[in-house]
Amino acid sequence: MTNVRNAPGTQPLTPGKAGIGVTQRQDAWWASWLGTAGGLGLLGLYAFFSAEMGLGKWGPYLSPFYSPECLQLHFLAKYHLPIAVIPLASIIAFRGTCYYYRKAYYRAFFADPAGCAVGEARNEYAGETKWPWLVQNFHRYFMYLATLCLIVLWWDTLCAFFPGLQGHPEYGKFNFGLGSIVMLLDVVLLTGYTLGCHSLRHLIGGKNDCMSCAPSRYAGWKSATKFNEKHMQWAWASLFFVCFTDLYIRLGGLGIVQLESWTKWVMK
Ligand code: FES
Repeated sequence: MTNVRNAPGTQPLTPGKAGIGVTQRQDAWWASWLGTAGGLGLLGLYAFFSAEMGLGKWGPYLSPFYSPECLQLHFLAKYHLPIAVIPLASIIAFRGTCYYYRKAYYRAFFADPAGCAVGEARNEYAGETKWPWLVQNFHRYFMYLATLCLIVLWWDTLCAFFPGLQGHPEYGKFNFGLGSIVMLLDVVLLTGYTLGCHSLRHLIGGKNDCMSCAPSRYAGWKSATKFNEKHMQWAWASLFFVCFTDLYIRLGGLGIVQLESWTKWVMK
């Protein structure tokens, strides 16, 4: 929780009535606002430009923005749609309705409010009961979609280590290189983020009235809680790493980094 300090001898302002950005806080509350807005803005812009540019595959490596490959080849290419439209749409849907990200972008982009005890533009709060905010209620369904995407990303990672699985024996039976490690880290971070999802946690055990009656559910709920406690950290790390993985594979496709495989060295 943010530690809010008012100027000595002053009464706290009512944020909604104070005016946008007005506050009596003396700490650097704007630093986290700036960091969140800058981080989300930059990574979001990168994702959109990447989606437009193509080059999502390099040797045995497939960018998370271009997965699943079969869908891209057989559906999107056929209808001349931007090749990353489906992964990007699922990322926006899942992350855009995530409980943590809602707080982050409401503050960062709508100053609603920009921080605790900082004035905002409006005086009333109607919750997420009106269009387009009603969409936030579909988060659970986007979580199902994201879980499917995650399974596909694990498959892509497996194929990076074992290129023969996707019909690329030319890259060897086992490929242990920087690219496969980057893809593995990416999918591990995405898994940590998904496992800490509030909707998933509720689905596993949150609605149980009697935890001792369902010990396996309770164990699953406790595990999800561990991830949930650091959901913000998982959210940022996984978002950054998705972009980094795409960038690494893109640079490889452009010939700026070379295809590496340490398999022979490891197997000596
Ligand atoms: Fe953040 Fe579900 S609440 S992913």
